[in-house]
Amino acid sequence: MKPLEHLMRENIRDLKPYQSARETHQAGGYVYLDANENPFGRSLNRYPDPLQQELKKRIALQKSTEPARIFLGNGSDEIIDLLIRAFVEPAEDNVIIPQPTYGMYEVAANIHGAEVRKVPLGKDFQPIPADILSQADAQSKLLFLCSPNNPSGNLLNEDTVRELARDFEGLVVLDEAYLEFARSAGFMSLLGNYPNLILLRTFSKASGLAGIRLGYAFADPKIIEILTSIKYPYNINRLTQRMALRRMNRFRQVRRIVRVIRRERQKVEAFLNRCSFVEQVHPSDANFLLVRVKDPRKLMDYLSNKGVIIRDRSNLTHCERAVRITIGKPGENRLLMKLCKQFDQKYNSHGT
Ligand SMILES: Cc1ncc(COP(=O)(O)O)c(C=O)c1O
Repeated sequence: MKPLEHLMRENIRDLKPYQSARETHQAGGYVYLDANENPFGRSLNRYPDPLQQELKKRIALQKSTEPARIFLGNGSDEIIDLLIRAFVEPAEDNVIIPQPTYGMYEVAANIHGAEVRKVPLGKDFQPIPADILSQADAQSKLLFLCSPNNPSGNLLNEDTVRELARDFEGLVVLDEAYLEFARSAGFMSLLGNYPNLILLRTFSKASGLAGIRLGYAFADPKIIEILTSIKYPYNINRLTQRMALRRMNRFRQVRRIVRVIRRERQKVEAFLNRCSFVEQVHPSDANFLLVRVKDPRKLMDYLSNKGVIIRDRSNLTHCERAVRITIGKPGENRLLMKLCKQFDQKYNSHGT
């Protein structure tokens, strides 16, 4: 890995961050006449803690790490955006994105005028280090990996991640948005060995709080400091911080729901494997299934006419004729399976 000072954009290295009024004296019990707030109100009249100290402490405790190694974003999407802003010089630097994967990495890079180097994953949806490293040069600042990968649902092999973290000269962003649905501890334990590794997590999936917009990153404190210096001062609002703390106190309920979704995933997978319009169901460690079918358009139209929406992924690398189906509640999955059965009977009898 190159030194962080060389990876950072020059203007960010020289940046004097905005100092918000509320970085000190958070504890309460003061007369706050420093931030031009309206004094009338119970708590939402006040700006939220810009450093989100209580929430970071709570996450640190749960994940056995330290607050200084945590960054919170307005969804992990904000963190992806900030990483590009901090490290990728527009029109000069590039990012490497294996394909297929989550689409926002590319969109965020495009927004910032960064070159995107796409490298196909192997047919098994695992990264091929030699292919990735052969695309990298001195301007390659970020490599995006996703485990379990969206849309293929597979975890990445540990040896592959280690090799890439060791040999890629820039930062490796490893997005674990769906980790809780997998039977795996993920790659948190690698953080100490690879200072260029950044893990992304989110409250949007297993925690069931996509609506509050809260994602988080684990990384070396120096990387966290850089992200903190360029974020909007109050990027995580008070309601979000409060809701996240409340959900973390209900971790047993979250675990129970994750178990239900896993069980449902098994059921839907087994069912789809029996359908004659299905060619392949990719094994998944996430809350969705990538399914190769004979005619994705026909299936999607049939389902949407009956009120069920799934996602066409057939134009992505290695995803020919594939759709992605999110695992819903048991009743929603029963409806999906009933409709798929009808679809199967309707078209199978016509030899389609
Ligand atoms: C791999 C991956 N990362 C991140 C996100 C977005 O997370 P957030 O809601 O925290 O922005 C998604 C959403 O679908 C995703 O699939």
